[in-house]
Amino acid sequence: MENDYKSLIAKIDKTKMPTHIAIIMDGNGRWANKHGLKRINGHKAGVKVVREIVETAREAGLKYLTVYAFSTENWGRSKIEVNYLLKLILDSLINEIDDLVENGVNIRFIGTEEHLPPGYDVKVEENCRRSWHNSELYLNVAMNYGGRRELVEAIQSIANKTKQGILQPEEITEQVISDHLYTAGMPDPDLVIRTSGEIRLSNYLIWQSTYSEFWFTDTLWPEFTRAEFIQSILDYQERKRRFGKR
Ligand code: IPE
Ligand code: IPE
Ligand code: MG
Repeated sequence: MENDYKSLIAKIDKTKMPTHIAIIMDGNGRWANKHGLKRINGHKAGVKVVREIVETAREAGLKYLTVYAFSTENWGRSKIEVNYLLKLILDSLINEIDDLVENGVNIRFIGTEEHLPPGYDVKVEENCRRSWHNSELYLNVAMNYGGRRELVEAIQSIANKTKQGILQPEEITEQVISDHLYTAGMPDPDLVIRTSGEIRLSNYLIWQSTYSEFWFTDTLWPEFTRAEFIQSILDYQERKRRFGKR
């Protein structure tokens, strides 16, 4: 298995490497169910896979990786599951931060502060901050993230500037909007991966994924492998990206 993915990495055409890959890590609950476990055990198993994929992304020379950890719609789940996820995500950050820092990863959380428990954001930032001098791999964790919420916050911020006279309405361009998103300054995702057989965006990076390539697999997230991740890059390299041109 180990060599399996390394030999696939060797097949990557470095001149056609995607710059930014975004992943919708889906299927933890179904995986747990399949193994007679509780949903929360599925999430726990999922964290191990995140670790492996981050490592593999680095080995493959990827620059930006964005993973969907918790959506603004996920508050609709049971209190037990929501609380478990909030704790698991923060604990995982705290457990992994030393290794991430050492391995050149620059990590940040993107999402809204709305509904998060008091102090959550501060703890996230305290930990992430330690990695901000790194530049090998930029890792975004989409946490309490919703694409529409992101646009609302961007529009509010732009409207405030317009009200204060800092920005004229006719000066609002696509670039200005991009610059007010959580992903300001980052390239749009070239490739969006979704596991578990669902073929939808679920409010993920709706502005940024306008021209992304999509790659879907039936594999449930806890069973997603390094090899499959690299395969998605190899498949991406076969795509002809036209951006509306002929
Ligand atoms: C993805 O797995 C993780 C999160 C949404 C937090 P799910 O929990 O959605 O798993 P399924 O889709 O129910 O199998
Ligand atoms: C999307 O998965 C959100 C994350 C992976 C964090 P969901 O499982 O919440 O999406 P839906 O409900 O199937 O669209
Ligand atoms: Mg799901």
